[in-house]
Amino acid sequence: MAQQVKAVIARAKGAPVEVTTIVVPDPGPGEAVVRIQACGVCHTDLHYREGGINDEFPFLLGHEAAGIVETVGEGVTEVAPGDFVVLNWRAVCGQCRACKRGRAQYCFNTHNAKQRMTLLDGTELSPALGIGAFAEKTLVAAGQCTKVDPAADPAVAGLLGCGVMAGIGAAINTGNVGRGDTVAVIGSGGVGGAAVLGSRLAGASKIIAVDIDDRKLATAEKLGATHTVNSKNTDPVEAIRELTGGHGADVVVEAVGRPETYQQAFYARDLAGTVVLVGVPTPEMKLELPLLDVFGRGGALKSSWYGDCLPSRDFPMLIDLYLQGRLDLGAFVTETIGLDAVEQAFERMHHGDVLRSVVVL
Ligand code: APR
Ligand code: ZN
Ligand code: ZN
Repeated sequence: MAQQVKAVIARAKGAPVEVTTIVVPDPGPGEAVVRIQACGVCHTDLHYREGGINDEFPFLLGHEAAGIVETVGEGVTEVAPGDFVVLNWRAVCGQCRACKRGRAQYCFNTHNAKQRMTLLDGTELSPALGIGAFAEKTLVAAGQCTKVDPAADPAVAGLLGCGVMAGIGAAINTGNVGRGDTVAVIGSGGVGGAAVLGSRLAGASKIIAVDIDDRKLATAEKLGATHTVNSKNTDPVEAIRELTGGHGADVVVEAVGRPETYQQAFYARDLAGTVVLVGVPTPEMKLELPLLDVFGRGGALKSSWYGDCLPSRDFPMLIDLYLQGRLDLGAFVTETIGLDAVEQAFERMHHGDVLRSVVVL
């Protein structure tokens, strides 16, 4: 039986989000219905509301979520009712060339639930990032669910579904930060802060956090930054060089998504160092670099898509570390709120007041 549940939707471009009733169908083959316990508020939800992603309104927002599997459709073996799961954007196929070569994050055949959730009048909803979890229940592909230790706080676990995983993964998966490495992170919001945390986990010897907002730098220190640089007043490239004995950092993570900060990252790394771009640029942005500098400085220029994560490998591992007290994922939860407070949470996020507001159901 299809169910009616409360959810947060963006009905039209730029209009405030609203709590309404939606219809969640029974799971079809390969699908699961998940009872959502918590879902973080992310910039991407705001971008959907502003029409910055596509025009397929109305959107069912929310995508950094954890919950309990309620029912599964035919043929589902990945998860069973009662499992505690963290959701991810897309289920991977496991069969294509990318999957078989261990690069499932670049799977050619990812999928989401085939059926659509609707409004009461039958209008089909577009779920944000194929999830749509500002809702009491949501419908996803079973492969979007990753089982993790149920001892974890859902408000914390859900954050692995997007920004926090992107940041940790940018450091440990894409940047391959290793024991003793020097790391600089440019932009210390949710994603950059997570890159700081990931670098500490990996055993970096110096972690330099850069931001233009002192509040973010204070948080970065709590997450493991050994040095902070406010780049409003100081040239971050010079500061990072100075803090690394004149060399530059082994790994620089760019977590803003702008040409000028990417350029800073490029010049702030040591010769043969690695630059990781995890900040998402807009389609118009271009970068100009002297090709001789690219050639002469060596090393690697990498981008990090979703932290190059494999949910089935990384989510349970990071939750275990968190439960052992070795990874402070809880630091990202600034406040917990109800479904009716998402619009206000957007406002606070816009002003840089929070790392994450998390809707708890
Ligand atoms: N130099 C340094 N820091 C900057 C600059 C700058 N020129 N401009 C902005 N910042 C800082 C902000 O002060 C903020 O702390 O970058 C941080 C961005 O953090 P958030 O707004 O919390 O955004 P976040 O969720 O971390 O995402 C950052 O990564 O995944 C992408 O789409 C995401 O592009 C976005 C980026
Ligand atoms: Zn595949
Ligand atoms: Zn997100």
